[in-house]
Amino acid sequence: MSQNRQLQELYYEDYMQKGRCRHQDWSQRWQNKIIGWHLSQVNPYLNENYQVYLKNNDNPHSSIFVPLCGKSLDMIWLAQKGHQVVGVEVVEQPCHDFFKENEITYKVQDLQGVEGKILTSQDPKINITIYNCDYFALTSSLLGFRFDSVWDRAAFVAISPDLHSNYAKHLASLMAPSGRGLLIAVDYDINEHIHPGPPFYTPDTLVHSIFSPFTSVQRLSSFLLTASPPTTLFYTLPFTSKILIELEDVLRQMHERYIAVSAAFLDMS
Ligand SMILES: C[S@@+](CC[C@H](N)C(=O)[O-])C[C@H]1O[C@@H](n2cnc3c(N)ncnc32)[C@H](O)[C@@H]1O
Repeated sequence: MSQNRQLQELYYEDYMQKGRCRHQDWSQRWQNKIIGWHLSQVNPYLNENYQVYLKNNDNPHSSIFVPLCGKSLDMIWLAQKGHQVVGVEVVEQPCHDFFKENEITYKVQDLQGVEGKILTSQDPKINITIYNCDYFALTSSLLGFRFDSVWDRAAFVAISPDLHSNYAKHLASLMAPSGRGLLIAVDYDINEHIHPGPPFYTPDTLVHSIFSPFTSVQRLSSFLLTASPPTTLFYTLPFTSKILIELEDVLRQMHERYIAVSAAFLDMS
């Protein structure tokens, strides 16, 4: 192992130890208004890529999941397009702030069997529900359906590195077989700059290794948002393609077996 590589692994281990952000830390951020990630406008990448990667032409009311939603205005933009929008957010304050600040009337109910609340828009033109609970507590049986699309902005990168694999597995369990999504990750030179996160270090290799058991992963672009790192990585996750890839694998294996059996049969004759 080269010295460089050893150094990198040492740093990464160190990073995994430091890279923790728990519910309490998020609560404090919201309480102290340290919410630099919150945009006062719709995310421009959502705007640019929605038509191709999220919109379902067969169903204008398709469901869109916004994990770790904070009080993101993207939810309103998506709901105004006619979608059924569902967010999940563990801290109570931004859930209420979202409806209040946007003057959307809403009702609050207890969640059944899970610690948390459900906040639902009462505006017939805005179909938005926020589950105020832990992301991992939101299951397809609690929801009663699976999502058509997911818009992951500042969600995967906000999850502590030790939970990245569980995050992807859980996301896959919430998606419909034809589901698809957009994901933003961040990369920088970890040897140069150990940023304790969030946003956590999620380079291209990590995004591929974490998500590829569940979906094919296609990088759409990578760019610097500011003059210096981190680099923003932008992906599409066509969960359907994973199913097609698996189907192709099965068909290829069947074809290979067929060729082998045919060859054996010809040998015998
Ligand atoms: C970086 S912010 C991003 C918010 C939003 N996606 C946006 O783009 O504005 C991450 C949010 O996830 C919430 N959060 C962190 N861990 C969570 C978890 N396990 N379950 C649900 N929400 C969580 C935090 O409270 C915070 O509001």
